[in-house]
Amino acid sequence: MLSEKMAKGLSRQMNREAFSAYLYMGMASYAASIGLSGFENWFVAQAKEELQHAKKFYDYLIKNGVRVIMEDIEKPPQEFSSGLDVFEKTFRHEKKVTSLIHDLVNLAKQERDTQTEKFLGWFVSEQKEEEATPARIIEDIKKAISGDEKSGYTAIDTELSRRKG
Ligand code: FEO
Repeated sequence: MLSEKMAKGLSRQMNREAFSAYLYMGMASYAASIGLSGFENWFVAQAKEELQHAKKFYDYLIKNGVRVIMEDIEKPPQEFSSGLDVFEKTFRHEKKVTSLIHDLVNLAKQERDTQTEKFLGWFVSEQKEEEATPARIIEDIKKAISGDEKSGYTAIDTELSRRKG
């Protein structure tokens, strides 16, 4: 049985995962608008993954008998200046998500809710990947555009077009 506080925190995180999907769809749309279809592909795949994260929270809450209430999804920022900028903002966003997950782990500990702590373990590992991937892409972009910017972006765009999802 989840405490009210724990259920509220997990529902809130479900909403933040949906917000992440929305944020990344906005980034995909920006990438499409500047002709980076590989970047667009990457962000659409990332948005789908975020919805899967939201679904994991949903399933866990339902399994624990919680009536899950859908709240408003905040409007995401949509001002971007380049392909590099969207990945820098992605990295910053994922760092924020990691800290939210750690807050939930701490709450589960306070509540002596070992089942939820175990459930959150998957997200703790996932967030390592969620930070490492954009960090690596940022380095790749910086390297690629240090010579000719246009051809650098084309090379990275081709790489990002390969992401399935
Ligand atoms: Fe659901 Fe990108 O963390």
